[in-house]
Amino acid sequence: MKIVEQIKQPIAYEMELFEQKFQLSMSSQVALLNRITHYIVNRKGKQMRPMFVFLVAKMVSNGEISERTYRGASVIELIHTASLVHDDIVDDSNRRRGFFSINALWKNKIAVLVGDYLLSKGMLVCIDNNDFDLLKIISVAVREIVEGELLQIEKARKLDITEDVYYDIIRQKTATLIAACCSLGAASVKPNSPDVETMRKFGELIGMAFQIKDDLFDYTEDKIGKPTGIDIKEQKMTLPLIYVLNNTSKEKKKWLINSVKNHNKDKKRVKEVIAFVKNNSGLEYAESKMVVFKDKALALLEKYPESEFKSSLVLMVNYVIDRKI
Ligand code: IPE
Ligand code: IPE
Ligand code: MG
Ligand code: MG
Repeated sequence: MKIVEQIKQPIAYEMELFEQKFQLSMSSQVALLNRITHYIVNRKGKQMRPMFVFLVAKMVSNGEISERTYRGASVIELIHTASLVHDDIVDDSNRRRGFFSINALWKNKIAVLVGDYLLSKGMLVCIDNNDFDLLKIISVAVREIVEGELLQIEKARKLDITEDVYYDIIRQKTATLIAACCSLGAASVKPNSPDVETMRKFGELIGMAFQIKDDLFDYTEDKIGKPTGIDIKEQKMTLPLIYVLNNTSKEKKKWLINSVKNHNKDKKRVKEVIAFVKNNSGLEYAESKMVVFKDKALALLEKYPESEFKSSLVLMVNYVIDRKI
């Protein structure tokens, strides 16, 4: 059995029902919007976030989930989708999930509005059902995603990013949403339990590993359904490059910074930078840090009793860093 199917086994029924609910949660009276949301649901992603919601909820409640858990999964995937629609505008990226991005097909004007629409639909899933505790968790994550994206832009302009600032950026732009998945999964079934905070921390740690993996993909030519090799073009310095910058000669450092600053659209030069990072252990270093975050996440699961849900979560944690897309 494929690893993803194995992970999904204890939540197969929930994931199927979730897909129906998720699709319904996007519908609109406006024909143009409906066309676009159909386009989106037909090109679904890995759905790792709803998987985290269901697995965590079931692990902490011995399998007893509620409608709140489904709403939690829907709101998370709506917000995630909104963030990707906007992210592709911000990153000027024309591909997503193996197809054209929304901005590539319908242009920025429409893509901005579609992202806002998905965001509002997510909020309404909670509000319409008085799930204000879940709404709070998700709203904090939305604020942090935006702050993380802006911090990243600020650092891309100044090119003065340190390893600690890199961790701040990825914690905010990516890990917070995965933290929200896990705390919201726990809160959907046990609102006042300490599991809510433990699972938030678990999600944050695995979210850090998740984004390091995503940044490693950018240094490959793997077919991952979205462009690779675009971070340097966007003057985005990620962990492999940051490490190499801090561990090379002054001259090389100057050459690297100058390449990112003034030659970031020169394909040959960008390839040279990528090769330099690879030849100076940048990828190995980032991988080692990714594994540290993953192991810390796994350690937080230890105190939970063995169950099929916990086993799936362990597989999921390992899948985050071993995945091919
Ligand atoms: C992409 O997330 C955005 C990042 C935080 C790197 P995913 O890789 O989970 O995207 P999909 O939903 O599977 O396309
Ligand atoms: C992912 O940002 C985080 C958000 C969507 C806010 P990236 O720009 O690094 O992700 P990809 O590689 O485009 O999915
Ligand atoms: Mg981005
Ligand atoms: Mg992007």
